Order: sequence, then C-alpha cells, then structure tokens
Amino acid sequence: QYVAVNGNLIDRKNAYIDIEDRGYQFGDGVYEVIRVYNGKMFTGNEHLERLWKSASSIGITIPHSREELKDLLEQLIQKNKLSLGTVYLQYTRGIAPRKHPFPSDDVKPTLVAYTKEVGRPEEKLHSGIKAIQTEDIRWLRCDIKSLNLLGNLLANQKAAEAGCDEAILNRDGRVTEGSHSNISIVKGGKIYTHPANNYILNGISRRVMLEICAREGIQVIEEPFTVKELQDADEIFLTGTTVEVMPVIELDGKSAGGGKPGPVTRKLQNWFKAEIE
Ligand code: PDD
Repeated sequence: QYVAVNGNLIDRKNAYIDIEDRGYQFGDGVYEVIRVYNGKMFTGNEHLERLWKSASSIGITIPHSREELKDLLEQLIQKNKLSLGTVYLQYTRGIAPRKHPFPSDDVKPTLVAYTKEVGRPEEKLHSGIKAIQTEDIRWLRCDIKSLNLLGNLLANQKAAEAGCDEAILNRDGRVTEGSHSNISIVKGGKIYTHPANNYILNGISRRVMLEICAREGIQVIEEPFTVKELQDADEIFLTGTTVEVMPVIELDGKSAGGGKPGPVTRKLQNWFKAEIE
C-alpha cells in the first residue's frame, strides 16, 4: 500500500511521523475523509474546499495548491488500485519542540494521506441502525474539521457500549449532530436539520441531501430541533461520507423514527444512490 507523506507517494512501511509533530502531541491539525466510488473521489472539490477553510480557521497555511493535492490524491487512488473506499488525509501544523504558541513560519505543515477499501453499508442502509443520544460536550467550533475528536470519540464509545452505531448529540436539549455524521428528522413530510453554524460540521453529504431536496421539492427547515422532537419524529436519518443516508430506527433502546426506514428516507437514499453511480 502506498501512502502520501508531504508531496511523495511512498510505501507505508517507510512512512514515519516525528515524535514532535504537533498533530501527534496536540491534535493540532485538520483532516478530511473523502468517499471513492468507481475509482473517483465523490464531491472531492467540496471536501478540499472545506479542508482549506478548516486550515485557515486555525491559522495553518497549506503548502500545496488545491490542484497539487487533488493530483496527489488521484495518483494515490490509482497506485493503490482503489475502486470503492475512502481517502483519509490530514495536515498538522508541523514538527516543532512542544510549546503552545504556533512555531515560526518556516515550520511546514505535515501532510499524510492514505486509502482504505470500504464497501457501502448495504445491510444497514436497508434495515436502519440503532442510536443513543447524549450530551454534546465538544468545543464551540465544531464547524472546523479538527483532529481533536475526543468529544466525538467519548460519545461514540458510549454508543458502541450500548450496542449502537451512532451517538446523537444535544446541547441544552437541542440536537446538533451525530458523533461522526449529521442528523435530520422528518415530521409531517418536512425535513428538519440543524443550521450549518459553529455547533456542527457543515457536512458535504448533508449539502448533497439539501440539493436533492431543493431539486425534488422537499421542504427543509434548517433550524435546531429538540430531543423531544427527535423522539417524536416520523423518520430519523443520518448523512455522512461513510453512512450515506442512514435510517435510524431505535433511540436509547426504544423504537424511533417510525421503527423502520420511512418513505422520505427511502426516496432520499434512492436519489443519493443515483448521484454516486
Ligand atoms: N465524519 N459531523 C461530524 C462530526 C463528522 O465527523 C462527519 C464526518 C459529518 C458528516 O460530514 P460529511 O458528510 O462531510 O462526511 C458530520 C467523517 C466521515 C469521519 O470523521 O470519519
């Protein structure tokens, strides 16, 4: 398997990270996970655009052009003969003695990228998944796709321990998003989802879903909804690079979202599938 380290494609066995890389010591960096369907990055430009935005929000200047990075990722996909899977990539602030202030400008960000074969979660897309809900204890800049994921990990671990796939987070009773996905509910034929502000990641799959809804004339209300509204929803679904449009059919051990994938979710799944084929 080849991996990209800075500008080069090398054998994974020869890749190493310095112990003073700020990503390793502080989680001081940003990342993206991009879906690969049929050997091509799905919504690659949107992911790269968000990466640049995340980086600039924390004062990291990416030392490549978007074209250079895109070329490198395409080469990586080709060399690894990846047809269906994901590309993971991250930039950290670089290598410097461990001190909180940013290092000087001559310290260049470290890029790491690699690919993984991942099938589509067909069974779960068909049957739906179980979730728990829990408090959102993350920081106030969830719009930045930062390497600091402890709040997400703790929530997702709680879900895993309960035999569930996702943890749905709420801040003061208002539902924000999942630990690694965005969430929407359907009530009376309308879709409700948290607005893309600092409390959630502006998910690319969420945006694909919004575009589909605009095209198909499904009304979407981008306003926060409560845990109670989540519990009482006609349908619940997640969106994300790895989960696509995923029905949620159980919440905290109780039937939820109608107890089975609902008609609006099914339609969205079909339209989404048409986008990726
Ligand atoms: N997670 N919200 C959070 C907190 C996420 O981590 C993700 C993605 C999403 C969905 O965003 P998108 O549609 O752009 O993938 C929402 C990635 C896949 C991960 O960390 O594995």
